[in-house]
Amino acid sequence: MVRMQRLKNKVCIVTGAAAGIGRQTATAFAEAGALVIAVDRDGEGLVSLAASVNELKPVVLDITNAADVGDFFAGIDTVDTLFNCAGMVSVGSLETCSEEDWERSVSLNMTSIFHMSRAAIGPMLKAGAGSIINMASVISSIGGANDRFAYGATKAAVIGMTKSIAKDYASRGIRCNAICPSAVETPSMTARIEAMDDPDTARSMFAERQPVGRMATPNEIADLAVYLASDESRFMTGSAIVIDGGAKL
Ligand SMILES: NC(=O)c1ccc[n+]([C@@H]2O[C@H](COP(=O)([O-])OP(=O)(O)OC[C@H]3O[C@@H](n4cnc5c(N)ncnc54)[C@H](O)[C@@H]3O)[C@@H](O)[C@H]2O)c1
Repeated sequence: MVRMQRLKNKVCIVTGAAAGIGRQTATAFAEAGALVIAVDRDGEGLVSLAASVNELKPVVLDITNAADVGDFFAGIDTVDTLFNCAGMVSVGSLETCSEEDWERSVSLNMTSIFHMSRAAIGPMLKAGAGSIINMASVISSIGGANDRFAYGATKAAVIGMTKSIAKDYASRGIRCNAICPSAVETPSMTARIEAMDDPDTARSMFAERQPVGRMATPNEIADLAVYLASDESRFMTGSAIVIDGGAKL
């Protein structure tokens, strides 16, 4: 799809950019004319991304490390868009979720958004403009069934952060929205399916959760991110946009 120059000269930071939705969105942002800063802790993945995309600066960074996040932003004057995409799924119910998985989920799915967004807000306030996009999930508002307790809890918090940021900064030109996908066919999703007892049945089950009969492609989520990063969405803030092939119908 031709994305034209919808993000011409915008500086867009994408976390989790080495794989899956973040990788596809970093590519889409660059295709739309943005100067992309691609952040991930996976250096090899970033090298292969940078080899295929022009106008992209790879930055190896663990976004759960608050000091490193501070150092990274110390060198940045302009942020038009921050896409907080990186996240993780952990398995377990209220009873079986380990303390470690809980802490890791909170740290990556929630606290990294706090630190990244707080660091990005300075340059955005100076410019009087900016778009923060947070990656939530369709289960943010309906809860995580099938042993997704920590994931459901932390992704629900993403919507709370999104709406609070939107309210506090709307009058100063900064927008904040969340993307809430159902199943998306990314490498990590495929790995989760392959690790199940019966991958073929599991794949069909994931596809059938959406009335459209399939999972989303990363590109379909990237299209929404391009819209939220662009000025076309200038009247949209505080929204949690469900993109789920009808799963919530
Ligand atoms: N795939 C789905 O079905 C689906 C559905 C709804 C929401 N989401 C959300 O979308 C986002 C992306 O999902 P995906 O399937 O593309 O994920 P993925 O696992 O394929 O990619 C995640 C990326 O984040 C990076 N990352 C992990 N921890 C990091 C850290 N501490 N610092 C920097 N980078 C780190 C990984 O290296 C990886 O490149 C996640 O927040 C996920 O919860 C995914």
